[in-house]
Amino acid sequence: MAKRASSFCLVLYVVVLLLGLVSAVTDDRQDKQVYVVYMGSLPSRPDYTPMSNHLSILQEVTGESSTTGRLVRSYKRSFNGFAARLTESEREQVAEMEGVVSVFPNKKLQLQTTASWDFMGLKEGKNTKRNLAIESDTIIGVIDTGVWPESESFSDKGFGPPPKKWKGVCSGGKNFTCNNKLIGARDYTGEGTRDNQGHGSHTASTAAGNAVAGASFFGIGNGTARGGVPAARVAAYKVCIPTGCTTESILSAFDDAIADGVDVISISIGDDNAIPYEKDPIAIGAFHAMAKGILTVNSAGNSGPTPNSVASVAPWILTVAASTTNREFLTKVVLENGRTLSGRSVNAFDLKGKNYPLVEGTLGSQAKGQILVSRYPTISGTAVATINVDYKNYSSISPRPLSSLSQDDFDSLLSYLNSTKSPRGTVLKTEAVFNQKGPKVASFSSRGPNTLAVDLLKPDITAPGVEILAAYSPLSSPSLGDQRQVKYSVDSGTSMSCPHVAGVAAYIKTFHPDWSPSVIHSAIMTTAWSMNASDTGVASTEFAYGAGHVDPIAALNPGLVYELNKADHITFLCGLNYTSKTLKLITGEAVTCTGNTLPRNLNYPSMSAKLSETNSPFTVTFNRTVTNVGIPNSTYKSQIVLNHGTKLSVKVSPNVLSMKSVNEKQAFTVTVTGSGLDPKLPSSANLVWSDGTHNVRSPIVIYTSG
Ligand SMILES: *[C@@H]1O[C@H](CO)[C@@H](O)[C@H](O)[C@H]1NC(C)=O
Ligand SMILES: *[C@@H]1O[C@H](CO)[C@@H](O)[C@H](O)[C@H]1NC(C)=O
Ligand SMILES: *[C@@H]1O[C@H](CO)[C@@H](O)[C@H](O)[C@H]1NC(C)=O
Ligand SMILES: *[C@@H]1O[C@H](CO)[C@@H](O)[C@H](O)[C@H]1NC(C)=O
Ligand SMILES: *[C@@H]1O[C@H](CO)[C@@H](O)[C@H](O)[C@H]1NC(C)=O
Ligand SMILES: *[C@@H]1O[C@H](CO)[C@@H](O)[C@H](O)[C@H]1NC(C)=O
Ligand SMILES: *[C@@H]1O[C@H](CO)[C@@H](O)[C@H](O)[C@H]1NC(C)=O
Ligand SMILES: *[C@@H]1O[C@H](CO)[C@@H](O)[C@H](O)[C@H]1NC(C)=O
Repeated sequence: MAKRASSFCLVLYVVVLLLGLVSAVTDDRQDKQVYVVYMGSLPSRPDYTPMSNHLSILQEVTGESSTTGRLVRSYKRSFNGFAARLTESEREQVAEMEGVVSVFPNKKLQLQTTASWDFMGLKEGKNTKRNLAIESDTIIGVIDTGVWPESESFSDKGFGPPPKKWKGVCSGGKNFTCNNKLIGARDYTGEGTRDNQGHGSHTASTAAGNAVAGASFFGIGNGTARGGVPAARVAAYKVCIPTGCTTESILSAFDDAIADGVDVISISIGDDNAIPYEKDPIAIGAFHAMAKGILTVNSAGNSGPTPNSVASVAPWILTVAASTTNREFLTKVVLENGRTLSGRSVNAFDLKGKNYPLVEGTLGSQAKGQILVSRYPTISGTAVATINVDYKNYSSISPRPLSSLSQDDFDSLLSYLNSTKSPRGTVLKTEAVFNQKGPKVASFSSRGPNTLAVDLLKPDITAPGVEILAAYSPLSSPSLGDQRQVKYSVDSGTSMSCPHVAGVAAYIKTFHPDWSPSVIHSAIMTTAWSMNASDTGVASTEFAYGAGHVDPIAALNPGLVYELNKADHITFLCGLNYTSKTLKLITGEAVTCTGNTLPRNLNYPSMSAKLSETNSPFTVTFNRTVTNVGIPNSTYKSQIVLNHGTKLSVKVSPNVLSMKSVNEKQAFTVTVTGSGLDPKLPSSANLVWSDGTHNVRSPIVIYTSG
C-alpha cells in the first residue's frame, strides 16, 4: 500500500469546534416552541396530500381554524412530516396521533488545498484515471452554510449544461447566480444561499471544487486546491447561520436534495452526542437517502478524544474521523543566539527577520513594540508578535503574528529569557513542511464506542481533516477578530474530512454507477490503509479511526463487498428493539421483526461486540455475507491478523470462499473466543479475505464497559 505521495502540496481542512450547546429554538411570545413532527415515509396513496394532512393535524390539536402561522415547514418530497409551533400539551397530543413516528424539539446542531488528494494517492492530471463523462453527470449535494458562488472553485468554465436527471432549482436569494458547475442552491435560513461563514465553501470545494492553481493563504500552502471530483457538479443547501443549524432545516434540505437527484450527500454537521435515530434529523434524512440509492457522508464530530463522543452512529451513514496528512504548517521562532524553535500556527505575517525584545508576560500583558512570551493561550493585540504554548497540536490562523510552541520548546525559551539580560528574537512566516508522522487521528476527532448501538463500530473511516486549505468566503473573517478577507483559507475538523470521503464516494460512483450506497460504503472501508496505536496521538484505537484511512484508488476495486439494503437496516433496528409500529412508519412497509436479529449480525464491513463481563471466557459470533464485485472464478482465503497485545482467538468458517461468478454471494461466520478482556482497551484483530490481488479487510473489535 503506497501510503504517501512523493510530493505534496496542500489541502483543505477546517476545525469548527462542535461546541454543541444544543439550545431549543423557542418562540417565547406564546410559550410555543418549534417541534419537528416526523411521520416516516410518504404514503403511496394517490389521494394523499402531505401539506393538507399536516394542516389538518394542526387544526385538530390546536382547535384553530387557520393554522398556517403554526406550520413552519412541510416535508413532502422524500419523506413525510412537518415542523410547527406547538405548546407543550399540543406536542403531547401530536405525539399520540396515528402516523406520527416521533416529535422532537427543533434544536441547533453545530458545524463541525491543495495536497490532501495527493497524499491519498489521487493525483492531478493524467496519472489518475477518471471517467470524465460520468463525473460530469455526478452531483454532490452539500448541506452546510451555502457557498461563495463567485469562487474559482465553482467556476463553470468548460462545463456543459446540468445533467438531465437534475430536478433542483437555483433559489439562492438576491444576488446569487448558479452556473453549470454550481447547479443548485436552496436556502432554509432566510439569509440567502451565499456563504457568509466560509465553512460551506470549504467543504463543497473539498468534495468537488475545480482544480485552482496558485491557491494559498497569503502564500502559505500555495498549490492547486481541488476537490475529489473536480468535474462533478455542486448543489448547495444552506441550513446553518452563525449560531447553528436547525433540525427542521436539515430535514428540509434532505427532503429536497433526495428529490432533486443528487448522487452523494455531504453533511459536516452534528450534535454533541448520539440521539435515537427517529429523533436525529441526519439519521432520518440519510435513511430516506439510502432508500433512494444516495449515500450520506457525515462528520464524526469534534468532541474527541473523550470516549463515546461520536454522534454520527447510523449504519446507513458513512461516518468520518479526521487525521493529519504528510504536510503540516510550522512557524519558526529564531532567537538572537541563533537557536531556532518550531511552533504551530498559520502565520501569514512577515517580520522580515527583524529581532525584537522578548518579554515574558502575564495574562493580559500587551508588550507593545515587543514580542510577548506567554504561557497562556492568549494573543496580544499590540505586541509585534506573541509566542505561547500549543495546546491543540495543530496549526490555525491567527489575526496577529503568532507561534505556539510545544511545552518543551516553551521551557527552553524561558530559560533563554532567564539566561540573558536583553533577550531578542523573531517569528517567521509559516512554512509548509513534510510531516512523516501522518496520518494520525486528531485529538479533537470524536471517538467511539457508539452509545446508541453498542455493537456497531463508529466512526467508520478517517480522512484528512487537519490544516486543510480550501475555498472560503470573503464575507467571513479567517479567524476570530481578523479583518482580512480571503478566497482560500486553512481550517481543521471532521467538517474537513467528511467532504474528502464524499468526494471519494462520488469518484467511485463514476466508475460504478450501479453500486448502491452500502457497496460504496463497504469498498471505502475494506480497502482503507490499516492504522494502529502508533497512528494516533491520543486515544488510539479503532474507536478513533474505524477501518483506517481512506484510499480512493484501492476503493475502486475492492474485490468483495458487504452489501446492505433497506430491509437489512430494518432488521438491525428490530435488533435494537424498535417496535413494528414505529418501523412501519419509518419505512412505509409492514415490518415483522422475527427470529434472531442481533445488531452485530448486520452485514457491516466491520465487526464489533460489547461484552458485559471482563473475566469470564466468552464466545461471540458474527454472521456475514460477501458479494463478489471482482472477477469470476476467484478464490478468497481468510487470514486473521491479531493486533498488538490482543489475546483473542478468531475462527472463520468456511475459511475459503470460491466465487464462480460476479455478484455471487457467500456467507461465513466469524467466531471469536477469549477471556479476561482489558476494561480500558478494546481487543482487536483484522479479518482479511485475500485472492492474491484484493485484500478485503474488516476490523474486529471486542470491548467491555470499564
Ligand atoms: C453581489 O455580490 C457580489 C459578491 O459579494 C458583490 O461583489 C456585488 O456587488 C453584489 N451585487 C449586488 C448588485 O449587490
Ligand atoms: C504560488 O506558486 C506559484 C507557482 O509557483 C507562483 O507563481 C505564485 O506567485 C505563488 N503565489 C503566492 C501567493 O506565493
Ligand atoms: C528563571 O529565573 C527565576 C529566578 O532566578 C527562576 O525562579 C525561574 O525558575 C527561572 N525559570 C526558568 C524557566 O529557568
Ligand atoms: C498533543 O500531543 C502531545 C504529545 O503527543 C500529547 O501528550 C497531548 O495530549 C496532545 N494534546 C492534544 C490536545 O491532542
Ligand atoms: C503499526 O503500523 C505500522 C505501519 O503499518 C507498522 O509498521 C507497525 O509495526 C504497526 N505497529 C503495531 C504495534 O502493530
Ligand atoms: C432488546 O430486548 C431484549 C429482550 O428484552 C433484550 O434482551 C435486549 O438486550 C434488548 N436489546 C437492546 C439492544 O436493547
Ligand atoms: C449464523 O450462521 C450460522 C452458521 O451458518 C447459522 O447456524 C446461524 O443460524 C446464523 N445466525 C444468524 C442470526 O443468521
Ligand atoms: C470459470 O470456471 C469454469 C469452470 O472451470 C469455466 O467453465 C468458466 O468458463 C470460467 N469462467 C470464467 C469467466 O473464466
